[in-house]
Amino acid sequence: MSRVALVTGGTRGIGAAISVALKGAGYRVAANYAGNEEKAKAFADETGIPVFRWDVSNYQACVDGIADVEAKIGPIEILVNNAGITRDAMFHKMTPQQWNEVISTNLTGVFNMTHPVWSGMRDRNFGRVITISSINGQKGQMGQANYSAAKAGDLGFTKALAQEGAAKGITVNAICPGYIATEMVLAVPEKVLNERIIPQIPVGRLGQPEEIGRVVVFLASDEAGFITGSTISANGGQFFV
Ligand code: CAA
Repeated sequence: MSRVALVTGGTRGIGAAISVALKGAGYRVAANYAGNEEKAKAFADETGIPVFRWDVSNYQACVDGIADVEAKIGPIEILVNNAGITRDAMFHKMTPQQWNEVISTNLTGVFNMTHPVWSGMRDRNFGRVITISSINGQKGQMGQANYSAAKAGDLGFTKALAQEGAAKGITVNAICPGYIATEMVLAVPEKVLNERIIPQIPVGRLGQPEEIGRVVVFLASDEAGFITGSTISANGGQFFV
């Protein structure tokens, strides 16, 4: 039987492309979503991928949601922590709420999702944890002190957990997408996007969600077992670590 993959935020944007790419590669895929029922239903109808609603910033909701997916589909062998939000503001205008919402979803959400699947992965001696960080976790970004902090935190989490999982056949890796053509990026003011961001991308264009989906399929494969604790950048040459 093919392996089971769970993608958080898996019905829209980069997450949707990851879900579709994993399904195309033969995995049994479940896609989590937080709130946009209409988009999630349309995604499920279009792709045949089952969708499950819960908020990754709530630990108990993650425990319950994962139990539901495992009962319906099977033990989660591949976890893709993709769910993420932005609350961009210059720091002098940033509210505690904007800070807390982004940290709760983009960083604590990764703990909340990985912790409940970790014991099962250890018991089965196989697992893949793939977290979608960001170029802005690597280089920092004005207007994103909250998001950059959370995404940099995801990289520290990945490197620490990779060391714990290695002896148990579990790889833990991060992908840092650059600016990808999704609703999140297209929400950036048009003038900022066209005059400030795109000119900084040497390939001269935004990335496509499918370009991240393919990286996930590679890291999820049995053949990628020697790659752990890594950060793979996919940013059109905008930033090199
Ligand atoms: N790169 C370079 N310059 C930027 C910038 C960016 N990403 N964002 C803002 N600036 C510049 C503006 O051009 C402006 O410069 P001038 O005064 O010289 O025109 C200055 O910073 C102030 O910006 P605003 O006038 O827009 O100030 P504001 O207070 O109205 O809004 C903001 C500030 C909310 C941060 C808004 O500019 C914004 O949303 N910027 C985009 C921030 C960004 O890059 N977010 C990434 C979202 S995509 C994502 O997060 C996915 C991922 O992982 C890559």
